Amino acid sequence: MRVAVIGTGYVGLVSAVCLAHMGHTVTGVDNDAGKLARLREGQSPIYEPGLQEDLSLAMGTGRLRFHGDLVAAVAGSAVIFVAVGTPPLPSGASDTRAVAAVATAIGAALAGDDQPRLVVNKSTVPVGTGARVQDLLARSAVAAGAAPPPVTVVSNPEFLREGQALWDSYNPDRIVLGSDDAAALLTMEQLYAPLIKRRCRGCDVSHPGPIPLIKTDLASAEMVKYAANAFLATKVSFINELAQLCDRLGADITLVADGIGLDKRIGRAFLDAGIGWGGSCLPKDVSALLHTANSQGVHPRLMEAVTAVNQDQRRLVVRKLQQTLPVLQGHTIGLLGLTFKPDTDDLREAPALDIAAELIRLGATVKGFDPYWSRQDHWPEALASIRRCSSAMALAKGCDALVVVTEWPEFKLLDWEQLGREMRRRLVLDGRNCLDGTALTASGFRWQGVGRNPPSR
Ligand SMILES: NC(=O)c1ccc[n+]([C@@H]2O[C@H](COP(=O)([O-])OP(=O)(O)OC[C@H]3O[C@@H](n4cnc5c(N)ncnc54)[C@H](O)[C@@H]3O)[C@@H](O)[C@H]2O)c1
Repeated sequence: MRVAVIGTGYVGLVSAVCLAHMGHTVTGVDNDAGKLARLREGQSPIYEPGLQEDLSLAMGTGRLRFHGDLVAAVAGSAVIFVAVGTPPLPSGASDTRAVAAVATAIGAALAGDDQPRLVVNKSTVPVGTGARVQDLLARSAVAAGAAPPPVTVVSNPEFLREGQALWDSYNPDRIVLGSDDAAALLTMEQLYAPLIKRRCRGCDVSHPGPIPLIKTDLASAEMVKYAANAFLATKVSFINELAQLCDRLGADITLVADGIGLDKRIGRAFLDAGIGWGGSCLPKDVSALLHTANSQGVHPRLMEAVTAVNQDQRRLVVRKLQQTLPVLQGHTIGLLGLTFKPDTDDLREAPALDIAAELIRLGATVKGFDPYWSRQDHWPEALASIRRCSSAMALAKGCDALVVVTEWPEFKLLDWEQLGREMRRRLVLDGRNCLDGTALTASGFRWQGVGRNPPSR
């Protein structure tokens, strides 16, 4: 099928590549000229493991190209994905202006057109947005002096995880499709058939069955996405609250998580205590759900608590440091890992930013080493207050404490003995419980985890 993907960010670009590898002819469209120029040269503007290789391969087949002309891309496509950003507004609500702008542009582009097409929302949007998009498509065609085009809106929420986005796109746990039109759902099922049958590049062919397909109405599919992220956030905040108790009671939260996680009704995923959730999705989606609930007269007590626990986890880092360094003024703190999770370049809502701001407010000097950003030519504006270090060793030099903020796998392999020699004081706050506390303690470090007590020396 001929497909257009409007918005080539983390979701749109990965989806476009994946759709091309499924055998579709894909045009990626973006209104960011810089991003577009890089894509046209075959360069991925974002970091995601394996993406550069799969992008080059897909472009090499001739089935994937990029341009800025939405009108041409839409006119030549039977299925039009919308994957533009929906960041939070100051009120906490989702900012759907980019989605609305794209819907209006598609409606105008298709004014007078008589080909049946699908507009598929991959952006995470509040329940009711799909219906609004349907309305905007018709209105803008009418405003252009033509009859509404025969376009049907489908909701196809995205569940990929940054850092594993390609794997998730080729091997989703499920595909959710929402529309009030059965024929539209059938077309989408045909579009995804190579994936559902696990017959395209990247698919885990050792997996026994097809990928489950959930077909719903438009509103339910939109709600599935918020429900999924709210539940994941709840799991993390739940284990983090218990971790605070474990800290006091001498229990080990990682063992507690194993103990409950093997229960099939609970599951072990998202039960890693640490400094909480961040990134471009969980914070904004939970806050949008809170906003929606309040606007509907439903008091979202649970989501309020989940959010409050998460905010507390970031403050916990400073409180734990103050157990050893009560006055942070004049001390140097090194942050290991700055992106919101490993294997991404994404700094949106990264806990490191809040932690650095609070440490600086208290008079500390904050240095940072990030396995992605420290190896780039430029240091992003978001990290301007953090002193850039080119390696973990350079970070350790003169530090009174190191804080593991993001659990990049390479941190487990660091030579902590040597790092310790560079530091002013051997203090490590393992904000992701990813280090060997026993080994560090044996090397003379004061090691603190989250919900795990230091081993006795
Ligand atoms: N990033 C994730 O892990 C993830 C996972 C699941 C769902 N989502 C959802 O997917 C959507 C996109 O997220 P993202 O992280 O890819 O965002 P992003 O900011 O990385 O990408 C959005 C892209 O849309 C482009 N764009 C904006 N307005 C446009 C317009 N009018 N015409 C053409 N292009 C336009 C931007 O230039 C940008 O390249 C959001 O709704 C998000 O909540 C994201």
